[in-house]
Amino acid sequence: MSQGAIIDGAAFAAGLRGRVAEGVTAFRDRAGRAPGLAVVLVGEDPASQVYVRSKGKATVEAGMLSFEHKLPADTSQDDLLALVRQLNADATVDGILVQLPLPKQIDEQAVIEAIDPAKDVDGFHPVNAGRLASGLDSFVPCTPLGCLMLLKDRLGDLSGLDAVVIGRSNIVGKPMAQLLLRESCTVTIAHSRTRDLADVVRRADIVVAAVGRPRMVKGDWLKPGATVIDVGINRVDAGEGKTRLVGDVDFESALPLAGAITPVPKGVGPMTIAVLLRNTLVGACRRDGLDVPAGL
Ligand code: GUN
Repeated sequence: MSQGAIIDGAAFAAGLRGRVAEGVTAFRDRAGRAPGLAVVLVGEDPASQVYVRSKGKATVEAGMLSFEHKLPADTSQDDLLALVRQLNADATVDGILVQLPLPKQIDEQAVIEAIDPAKDVDGFHPVNAGRLASGLDSFVPCTPLGCLMLLKDRLGDLSGLDAVVIGRSNIVGKPMAQLLLRESCTVTIAHSRTRDLADVVRRADIVVAAVGRPRMVKGDWLKPGATVIDVGINRVDAGEGKTRLVGDVDFESALPLAGAITPVPKGVGPMTIAVLLRNTLVGACRRDGLDVPAGL
């Protein structure tokens, strides 16, 4: 277990990416092929373009095949569904990620449900969400699984701890709560309608903030010694025409009270891509009937 108040997500993610790269080498020796990840981007959203470029680069660095599909912003739902079906049928593709959000003419849920659950490295398909909720093997969404890895690295056994997850999205809040329940935490899911959020947070040994509201969680809400995981990435005005990234937690006031806290940036953010690579390797091992390497 690591020590120190600030959790270095970037360092943990670098270590995980190294372990994935070793696992990929072993997979290639045994399977005679490299794992493949297909990433689909529809339109030209600048933030999504940056994410997709980083994912492709990290995939190649891990020794895997990267297939990038860039479609115009006016792509029809039928054309996108046809591409997803083609990737489902492609034996060289182990993981499929359709970057969200999608343009308004496309029904996101229909696209998520078209992806083969065995290639759903995002873990967004209802089959995978349902399997996670039922305690079965499944793909788990990358960001919450990354948060859980950081928590276990810091705290070891989580059994019996009080955990509060702020946010109830399908991408972070709900799967995060399921993962913490699986670790035998007592889990509360708070959200925009929660009454007296400060009082709920004050009871928690673990706080996971995933609401998308800059610096919303204040230091004096925390139980002293609590472990704080900040999933928020909010761009705010920093004066003089500049902007900077802040989390959902007010870092300056939280740091003196928290037992440990993830910073923004370099906290949870780097974990998401590292876990995506991990999920892709795990998917490839499952598809080829090979054991998943230990330590992933
Ligand atoms: N957009 C922002 N985060 C994610 C993610 O984890 N997966 C996908 N597919 N789209 C995203």
